[in-house]
Amino acid sequence: MAKSNEYFPAASSTRPGKKSRMPAKLDFLQSFSGFLLAIFMWGHMFFVSTILLGKDAMYTVTKFFEGMYFFDKPYPIIVTIAVAAVFTLFILHAFLAVRKLPIDYQQYKTYRSHMYMLKHSDTNLWFIQAYTGFAMFFLGSVHLYIIMTNPEKIGPYASSDRMVSEWMWPLYILLLLAVELHGSIGLYRLAVKWGWFEGRDAKASRKNLKRGKVLVTVFFLALGVMSLAAYIKIGLEHRSQYGEMYIPAGTQNQESHSPGDTP
Ligand code: HEM
Repeated sequence: MAKSNEYFPAASSTRPGKKSRMPAKLDFLQSFSGFLLAIFMWGHMFFVSTILLGKDAMYTVTKFFEGMYFFDKPYPIIVTIAVAAVFTLFILHAFLAVRKLPIDYQQYKTYRSHMYMLKHSDTNLWFIQAYTGFAMFFLGSVHLYIIMTNPEKIGPYASSDRMVSEWMWPLYILLLLAVELHGSIGLYRLAVKWGWFEGRDAKASRKNLKRGKVLVTVFFLALGVMSLAAYIKIGLEHRSQYGEMYIPAGTQNQESHSPGDTP
């Protein structure tokens, strides 16, 4: 039976003589879900990196997302609901992307020979996206599931303990590399595909987009590595008190009423 994907298209019609719009719709959904995820990741990296401003800054952001400044107390379930929504989008995006991957060794070889033949940097980027996307199936799912089911364990000490005492740092290093490469390449490819910022000179704007892509990747990788280092440092210092949650200065006397990152 004929196999189909981007390079081996099957006839895209359901009835003879009638073209189906489904491939275009699926393509749009894939692009749109990817766009939302990439923008979400920019926000996520800024929130996670508040640890660089100090434990109190990260604590404040954490409690903000638990609704503590809107309600009488924090509600970690809000975080669970938000993660479930992101997880659903993540799964939808992965599901739509699988259509584009080679499905057997023969197709894989054809892809690779095209890549060597074309020597086209955007074709090479497609490969990086395919590999990093595949890695994220596993790495991203582990992270999202843990955060979704432990929403009350996010905070300066809890997150650092997870990195060091719960051995999440190797996964985070790989996930950080994968997500930053995947996200910025994805946004670059979307910009080229949909003609964003094209202007009058398409060649010149593509050059600028490429430069922008490299800058964005380097910026978020640097921010991620610095944040990771900060969490690891705190996690190492906090190893002997593993499990104890952060309590901001000035609220310690309330500790006995409510343990954890909640004052
Ligand atoms: C609403 C959904 C999400 C929440 C609430 C969340 C929360 C967090 C938190 C609190 C941390 C700090 C470490 C920890 O506590 O374990 C973290 C780190 C990280 N997350 Fe997420 N995350 C979400 C979605 C994602 C997604 C979709 C990805 C990528 C697929 C991702 C990739 C990462 C990476 C790479 C780090 C390490 C950051 C660094 O190197 O500084 N996260 N996340």
